[in-house]
Amino acid sequence: MWPSILVLAQTRLDMRTPSYMRSSGTPGGSEATLGWWLIAVSLAVIVVMAVLVLWASLRNRGADSDPNNAASIDRGRGRTEWHIASGVNWIYIGSAITIVILIVAFGGTLAVISSASHAPTKPPITLNITAHQWWWEVQVNDSVPSNTFETANEIHVPVGVPVRVRLQSADVIHSFWVPELAGKMDVIPGQVNEMWLRADHVGIYRGQCAEFCGLQHAHMALAVIAQSPADYAAWAGQQRSAGVAPAPNTVASAGKQVFVASCGACHAVQGTDALGRLGPDLTHLASRLTIAAGLVDNTTPNLVQWVHNAQSMKPGVLMPKMDIPMSDVKSVVAYLQTLR
Ligand code: CUA
Repeated sequence: MWPSILVLAQTRLDMRTPSYMRSSGTPGGSEATLGWWLIAVSLAVIVVMAVLVLWASLRNRGADSDPNNAASIDRGRGRTEWHIASGVNWIYIGSAITIVILIVAFGGTLAVISSASHAPTKPPITLNITAHQWWWEVQVNDSVPSNTFETANEIHVPVGVPVRVRLQSADVIHSFWVPELAGKMDVIPGQVNEMWLRADHVGIYRGQCAEFCGLQHAHMALAVIAQSPADYAAWAGQQRSAGVAPAPNTVASAGKQVFVASCGACHAVQGTDALGRLGPDLTHLASRLTIAAGLVDNTTPNLVQWVHNAQSMKPGVLMPKMDIPMSDVKSVVAYLQTLR
């Protein structure tokens, strides 16, 4: 376990801890504002109540209360009646203030829930996301069916454009959460849950599975990369393009043969005989920031270790320790790095 935790700390996705209270998008922004307001109102109520209780307990210290003095008893009786009348008034005032605060908080919550459930304009992009133990399959849908493509563990979105997210699970219950952009949505087997999100600023946002789903739940992250619309279009165009086959008689072309024979039953690379559906689609793997669902950066040593023995990095993952010589592992990695 320790080595994987240590390398996780070096991942680009982990440079900044995401906080739902520091939002960079919608509907996360309105949810964060509501959260801050509810905290402020609750704190104000606590402070006011504490001051009142303190004031009431200190106010009548040393009152006249000698039980053997008839005059004192009379005075005491009058004081008690006045106290009861004034106390009842305070109950009315307190109840009225409480009701107003609760109604305002309820109204604000309803408004935020409403804005979170409906995008302001029809989202032009739909992401079909399927959660697996422990990675995210992403299908980017287009109104032109031939423009649809697949990727994994990485979502690109154009800044300022609402994106529809349709969530389903291939196995157990997961939860899709990009704290800085939107609230959580459970991902439930046999059901499609829908949400939407919009990034307001260019940047890389960490998404995280937020429902315990097994041993590697904590290592089920995804990168959300918000780009300018022009950069997004360039990325999408490149993802739609077929991969370029490596030049013949190179290390990469030898690696391609090993890959198709040893990895192609589980992984797909479009345009080759590798058509597996069990693991992530690797058609443009080299263009991704991380591997293994945000576990480590997409670097040569990490790829070599992953292809050689994924279990040493992410124990319990479906990918077995590969029974191929290290020279073949290196040529497979050389091939994977051509998949831009
Ligand atoms: Cu998937 Cu936790």
